[in-house]
Amino acid sequence: MKGVILAGGTGTRLYPLTASINKHMLPVGKYPMIMHGIARLKQAGIRDILIVVGKQHAWAMLHLLGSGEQYGVTITYRVQETSGGIADALRLARGFVGDGNVTVLLGDNIFTHSLESAVHRFEQEQLGAKVFLKKVADPSRFGVPTLMNERIHSIEEKPVIPQSDFAVTGIYMYSSSVFSIIDTLSPSERGELEITDINNVYISQSQLDYECIEGEWIDAGTHQSLSRAQAMATDMQLENILTKPVRQIEQEVMTNS
Ligand code: G1P
Repeated sequence: MKGVILAGGTGTRLYPLTASINKHMLPVGKYPMIMHGIARLKQAGIRDILIVVGKQHAWAMLHLLGSGEQYGVTITYRVQETSGGIADALRLARGFVGDGNVTVLLGDNIFTHSLESAVHRFEQEQLGAKVFLKKVADPSRFGVPTLMNERIHSIEEKPVIPQSDFAVTGIYMYSSSVFSIIDTLSPSERGELEITDINNVYISQSQLDYECIEGEWIDAGTHQSLSRAQAMATDMQLENILTKPVRQIEQEVMTNS
């Protein structure tokens, strides 16, 4: 399983914080936001990681993370020239992912749930896609699933009248078929290729599974939610994950799976 962190975009909802700084470099606890995603992927046993970043901020990301060696991961970068939506950014990962499976994180999603066992299950299931749900107070901000008989019937992006109180979080697992689905997408009303449209194609093919995540989950893309993420992460110790030898993590993953 490979990992992709989508860290492009303009971060307009966080202006003026993001006027000269990439959203994913903003502090969340002791760490720049992007390091939370790196830690969650490494914790799940994923150490081959692609970061998609906007061109005006690529230098800062490289300066911070380099090759990933100091964290026991290998980082590759792809530059997104213009922001055309999440699915458009993911398209840049095609060559990196090849024929395998990929875990995709939106770089502004801060969470405490370990993806280790879900990665293992997804590799076994051989389905097209898996999404992760979290009950939230304000579903209209997110992709919202309609659930029927414990299955996802459809997902609506930022609905005015949400059909459930769950958000589809920015944590996804896909097989390599995701790239041929992206090729068929058209821009939404907001002019973006939507990740929700990808997931609805998988639903229509009966190829989408879901899990609910435990613990805290915050999309830190607004001033209010960024403050909550910063408060939540104040005492978070990512060093335990980031500096742990990879061999030890692999052994833990094998023991727990
Ligand atoms: C994106 C997705 C949305 C998802 C959310 C999770 O929204 O489009 O489906 O629920 O991330 O963080 P955005 O934050 O780009 O508005």
